Amino acid sequence: MSTTPLITLNNGVTIPQLGFGVFQIDPDETADAVVTALDAGYRHIDTAQMYRNEAGVGEGVRRSGLPRDEVFITSKLNNDSHDPEAAAAAFERTLDALGTDHVDLFLIHWPLAMVSDFVETWHAMEEFYRSGRARSIGVSNFQPHHLRRLIDGSTVVPAVNQIEVHPYLTQAEARAFGAEHGIATEAWSPIAQGKVLDDPTVVRIAETHQRTPAQVTLRWHIQRGDIVFPKSVTAARIRENFALFDFELDDVDMAAIDALNRDERTGPDPDTFDYVP
Ligand SMILES: NC(=O)c1ccc[n+]([C@@H]2O[C@H](COP(=O)([O-])OP(=O)(O)OC[C@H]3O[C@@H](n4cnc5c(N)ncnc54)[C@H](OP(=O)(O)O)[C@@H]3O)[C@@H](O)[C@H]2O)c1
Repeated sequence: MSTTPLITLNNGVTIPQLGFGVFQIDPDETADAVVTALDAGYRHIDTAQMYRNEAGVGEGVRRSGLPRDEVFITSKLNNDSHDPEAAAAAFERTLDALGTDHVDLFLIHWPLAMVSDFVETWHAMEEFYRSGRARSIGVSNFQPHHLRRLIDGSTVVPAVNQIEVHPYLTQAEARAFGAEHGIATEAWSPIAQGKVLDDPTVVRIAETHQRTPAQVTLRWHIQRGDIVFPKSVTAARIRENFALFDFELDDVDMAAIDALNRDERTGPDPDTFDYVP
């Protein structure tokens, strides 16, 4: 079985570059999907309080029989818990739901700059990190201007920024900011929830390599150096999305996919998203 490259975060913790995302997986189906992914070789699961399936992730990891320290687990603070006291209670609920005494990475899910003070929230996250119950901490959906404010007002630089990235939204500015400040980029919706799979350029490159459009798109992310965690509830696709390490895109392929950028989001804009459940 092939293994996934590891990325070393800014605090020395290593994360498998390819993981499995569980957004929009029904809580009752999550454990089965996680077991299928772990059987296929994934060792990194990306969940969130908002997905309501952390318990299924914990169950799936236990059912796989793998030691806890062989699976990298990420979860994220919900939008209704930015207040530092609420954040502390929410973090406890995450550990309970997962059935573990630590997460490998905990993220602020959205900056919510219009309705909360994410720097205060970050100070609570720093406490989770110092206690060792979050081996690393980071943010999600932060724009460079959010990150500048966060770094100026705190001591721990986020290990990652998890943002929407795919061939129609290549995120040059946010990725460059991350690279400059030692913040790894995690690419969410890496195949744009399927929207890039019919793109003629992606299809043509896939045919050249005798791979699927999803594999070519995920391989493009891997070669750019981002961390990715495609989601699927379909066993064959879960395995397909893991088979990325026995072929390579050349510079011409990479440039052709880069050129598909349209700055087109499939999800909300972090500068205006203010949803609090
Ligand atoms: N931080 C954030 O705000 C945020 C936001 C969104 C997502 N995320 C994270 O990123 C992960 C991935 O993003 P995502 O779930 O939005 O979208 P995605 O991984 O880009 O796409 C998932 C969709 O593509 C389909 N699919 C998967 N593999 C395929 C393949 N090989 N061929 C054809 N179709 C395929 C899936 O269908 P089936 O499941 O039916 O097979 C599903 O409909 C999430 O699970 C979550 O962990 C984070």
